[in-house]
Amino acid sequence: MKAKARAHTNIALVKYWGKADKALKLPLMSSISMTLDAFYTDTEFNHSQDLEQDAFYLNEIKQTRQQSQRVFNYINELRKKFNLDQNEHFEIRSYNHVPTSAGLASSASAFAALAASFAKSYDLNLDKTALSRLARLGSGSATRSIFGGFVEWQKGTNDETSFAKAIDENPDWDLHMLAVEVNTGQKKISSSIGMQWAQKSPFYQTWLNENQSEINALKKAIAKHDFTNLGEISEQSANEMHAVNLSANPGFTYFEPDTLELINLVHTLRQQGIECYYTIDAGPNVKILCTLRNSKEIISAIHNLLGNVKIVNASFGPGVQYLD
Ligand code: PMV
Repeated sequence: MKAKARAHTNIALVKYWGKADKALKLPLMSSISMTLDAFYTDTEFNHSQDLEQDAFYLNEIKQTRQQSQRVFNYINELRKKFNLDQNEHFEIRSYNHVPTSAGLASSASAFAALAASFAKSYDLNLDKTALSRLARLGSGSATRSIFGGFVEWQKGTNDETSFAKAIDENPDWDLHMLAVEVNTGQKKISSSIGMQWAQKSPFYQTWLNENQSEINALKKAIAKHDFTNLGEISEQSANEMHAVNLSANPGFTYFEPDTLELINLVHTLRQQGIECYYTIDAGPNVKILCTLRNSKEIISAIHNLLGNVKIVNASFGPGVQYLD
């Protein structure tokens, strides 16, 4: 039985940065993201008694046992969960349409596409809530990639109650995100480790206490299509995440010199009346929120500052889709 699914990646505007339960990937906070059209993963899942061994191909290249471990562990966990035949073998073929140089993590789209193709190939008949919970077991941010547009992951308190839902899957809104490549190398500190270390910051609990009011404020801004509010809340959430990293013990940061150059550029552009806001994840790359109208000018300002860096202009993407 074979099934193929496509999922787009997402970028959090109110960040998830800490686990309440490591195995179930239950978060300590709720988060809100924007699913992006420009980046996605297609995954075909096949299981059969005729296959001789489990295999995982990424962009047509067979991955080593070590490279496949996270994916294999995930599938084995799901097979146990649904009491499926453990003797059958499976073959996974994933194609990442996340430009390798865009500096965006692909685990959100990858695990969402994997969860959906797995469930379809076994005819599990799961709705999107159930799929979101399954995707969460692969990667926290994948929980949100089941839906398009603006998505909220409600933290919940257990496996049943921690899932994402759509806030607005098709926003009629001129909102763009420029993904600026600063450095595409492997990140120095994985998000799992970073999240653990961040909790050593004396400000971590204070940040958590603000989570629900930030979620409410961002949902209000989304409902009103209020770009200024949306941008300010998103930038603040990113700053808070990176501030708890810097103030952890020992402190650490994902920023590189060009990350700070871009932060300064966003401030300067705003002073000049070109409204834009930044958000930054577990790496040095910067994503800039803006309108399409302003994007040309912002892109040329970035090139003036940093030379020929790669910039991808993205907007809203859809939720998970099945392909034949
Ligand atoms: O679930 P992970 O390992 O992809 O971690 C995601 C962490 C951030 O991207 C920094 C924030 C987020 O909410 O996506």
